[in-house]
Amino acid sequence: MFQGPFSHSIIKRAVEKKLVEIHIHNLRDFADNKHKNVDDYQFGGGAGMVMMAEPIAKCIESLKSDRDYDEVIYLTPDGELLDQKTSNILSMKDNMIFLCGHYKGIDERARELFITKEISIGNYVLSGGELAAAVLTDSIVRLIPGVLGNESSALSDSFQNDILSSPVYTRPRDFRGLHVPDVLLSGNEKEIENWRHEQSVERTKQRRPGLIEGEI
Ligand code: ADE
Repeated sequence: MFQGPFSHSIIKRAVEKKLVEIHIHNLRDFADNKHKNVDDYQFGGGAGMVMMAEPIAKCIESLKSDRDYDEVIYLTPDGELLDQKTSNILSMKDNMIFLCGHYKGIDERARELFITKEISIGNYVLSGGELAAAVLTDSIVRLIPGVLGNESSALSDSFQNDILSSPVYTRPRDFRGLHVPDVLLSGNEKEIENWRHEQSVERTKQRRPGLIEGEI
């Protein structure tokens, strides 16, 4: 599942430039039964399997025996909602483990013993934590200095200052009767900057008023 997102474009280049290392581990390699099962039935009954604490413990302990980790993050729909501020903070950490859940989730004791942070990428349920881990990875890696060609471009992203980006245009100047705003063709940097700021504020008020009020 990681092959696609991690072997293209920005993340691929970041890995090639040795700005980040990504290692993927299979919990089944840490299973202690002959079928390499990592899940079991829930105590108390109910539909859905639970990931066992033991393979998770063994995997995390084996990783920690090689290096120190700043965070052990569990991707789960009941975690704190991912936002740009969290990605910014995490982009300054050295080593992190992202644990992907499956089925009904992981045994609560594994959460208590090893997890330092729990993150959800949105109020919907995915079939596993892998896509969420890929999203989290992408949002962090692009913030590492040197990863984006033009270093300042991450700074003008939507959300970076709790504000959405202004509209952007490229050639041609006229497309199916719609024109690029004159100000962008004026060459007046100050006016362009003011226009972009006004557009950002307007867009944010219209589309995401909660961002301005700090609610997200
Ligand atoms: N695993 C399943 N759904 C998820 C979500 N929305 N965020 C993070 N991890 C998940």
